[in-house]
Amino acid sequence: MASFEKTDKRTHYCTELSAADIGKRVNVLGWCQRQRDLGSLIFIDLRDRTGILQLAFDEKTDREIFNMAFGVRAEYVLAASGIVRSRGEGAINHSMKTGEIEVAVDRFKILSVAETPPFEIVEDSNVNQELRLKHRYLDLRRPELQRNVIARSKISKLARDYFESQGFIDIETPTLIKPTPEGARDYLVPSRVHPGKFYALPQSPQLYKQLLMYSGFDRYFQIARCWRDEDLRADRQPEFTQIDLEMSFSDEDDIIAINEGFLKFLYKEFLGVELKTPFPRMTWREAMDRYGSDKPDTRFGMELFNISDIAAKCAFSVFSGTVEAGGSVRGINVKGGASMTRKEIDTLTEFVKTYGAKGLAWYKIADGAVSSSFAKFMTDDEIAAIVERGGIGDGDIAFFVAAKDNVVFDSLGALRVRVAKKLGILDPKVFNFLWITEFPLLEYNEEDGRFYAMHHPFTMPMEEDIPLLDTDPGAVRARAYDIVLNGTELGGGSIRIHTTEMQNMMFKSLGISEEEANEKFGFLLEAFKYGVPPHGGLAYGLDRLVALTLGLSDIRDVIAFPKAQNASEILSRCPAKADGKALEELGIKVIKEEEE
Ligand code: AMO
Ligand code: AMP
Repeated sequence: MASFEKTDKRTHYCTELSAADIGKRVNVLGWCQRQRDLGSLIFIDLRDRTGILQLAFDEKTDREIFNMAFGVRAEYVLAASGIVRSRGEGAINHSMKTGEIEVAVDRFKILSVAETPPFEIVEDSNVNQELRLKHRYLDLRRPELQRNVIARSKISKLARDYFESQGFIDIETPTLIKPTPEGARDYLVPSRVHPGKFYALPQSPQLYKQLLMYSGFDRYFQIARCWRDEDLRADRQPEFTQIDLEMSFSDEDDIIAINEGFLKFLYKEFLGVELKTPFPRMTWREAMDRYGSDKPDTRFGMELFNISDIAAKCAFSVFSGTVEAGGSVRGINVKGGASMTRKEIDTLTEFVKTYGAKGLAWYKIADGAVSSSFAKFMTDDEIAAIVERGGIGDGDIAFFVAAKDNVVFDSLGALRVRVAKKLGILDPKVFNFLWITEFPLLEYNEEDGRFYAMHHPFTMPMEEDIPLLDTDPGAVRARAYDIVLNGTELGGGSIRIHTTEMQNMMFKSLGISEEEANEKFGFLLEAFKYGVPPHGGLAYGLDRLVALTLGLSDIRDVIAFPKAQNASEILSRCPAKADGKALEELGIKVIKEEEE
């Protein structure tokens, strides 16, 4: 009778029970968080995906069960049945959701035993990532990851609900597709049936969602897995998920409005936060000039200011020489940052060097006393002009970088965020959504000596800039937009090209010959002949959306089985060598191998 019977199904999750259930018989299932032996009483904290519930075993109730409970260790899997009772005055634990009650167990079974796990299953774990990834199934038992994974499921559901309510149709697109070497590197999949030929895993459903618009589906969406063989960072994984959508007969405003509706709905339903729409919009040019970034965190100021005109004429050759060579000198003023030490300044100098800056000049006023790395090279008038331009006051420190524009923007843009993090002025409760518009259509790659599409080669240029495609391609702006949240690019999209003429002009600007265009995108050009509606769309990084919504910075914490920094999966140990016979069938010979 003491044993838990097969017929004893779970009646409640642990934290579904409260004082309102006192006197009820309940069946609960889960893992042992910890066991405490108080002599004639044993307590077990039982954990399931909702939280923890205390089980009580009394020597006098049932000797057999009591003895079983005595042997229970952390992570044993247990089934228990008993009566809910009050813990009694002194024993109430107010920090626990179920802290008022416990279950007096009279039927019990150990469903499985466990060895001591390599790390403790607790909320805050400071165990190293590698060990966590190696035993991901244990890491996933931690309440934090349980919450994240469950939150992700809810957010996906809310996305489906919203886009369906707006008339979007969920359509699956293929994941074995034609390799398209524009953009990031493809993951290739060899074909057995066609030896020597390869599929690629899609970097996004881009071409297929466009074709669906040609087919008349009008509004498409999909929660789609994407693959990109690029270097990993905290917000990048080799496989990730997009909430992907496309709309026919739409312009920027239509797409922006639908997506503001989505984010408003999501934040209301999921966080109970009322977002104010429309979100602000900023052109790419303005974002670069003010924040040095195309994904500015606008929760704080510390905006860039340009001192190139003052620097051009000064005697400090690092500054004047840079301006002469076509670069610029810009700065940021860190209000109240004058207490920074030399050592901290050195650290920041090393930091900006990783963005290509050659150095970091600084100017500070502490208790009325000025110190600076470059003031001695300048006249009083020049210094006064810089101080005024930057609004540098007592207690402030300003930093300056002289370099090519893109290096100045990259380094100061990153420095600004780094300093803000250090000063602790970033409020995680503030959600600053922002649209960045009018991106450059093309980006010049010095190494390859050619232009690449900044978004992708199907993005429409802005009408008034089309004539520049021939004369000044780098100046052409795109009908492309990104949605940015607190300094992270959440998603991006564009209005697409829908005529053969425009697409051919685009390929020409990219230096793609007619022959090459036909070989790579012939099917698209062919399709243009048969009636294509104007259309556009957008894709969110779902991993980033979930992470940011939960206030997390590492997307691995919202992915059940993420890849490690070097793109491997430590748990199952992949990538792995392929079986010799499999390679033979594929007609593949390995000529370079990783050293073990
Ligand atoms: P884009 O390349 O901007 O656009 O990607 C859209 C969004 O996907 C997310 N993302 C990633 N998330 C995690 N790991 C990665 N490696 C990664 N790469 C991208 C980002 C990004 O904003 N087809 C177009 C969209 C369109 O034009 O409709 C596209 O893929 O959050
Ligand atoms: P130097 O004369 O080389 O000692 O430089 C004087 C100051 O200018 C130091 O603080 C350097 O870090 C800084 N500096 C050097 N090169 C640059 C640069 N390209 N941009 C901004 N500051 C620089």
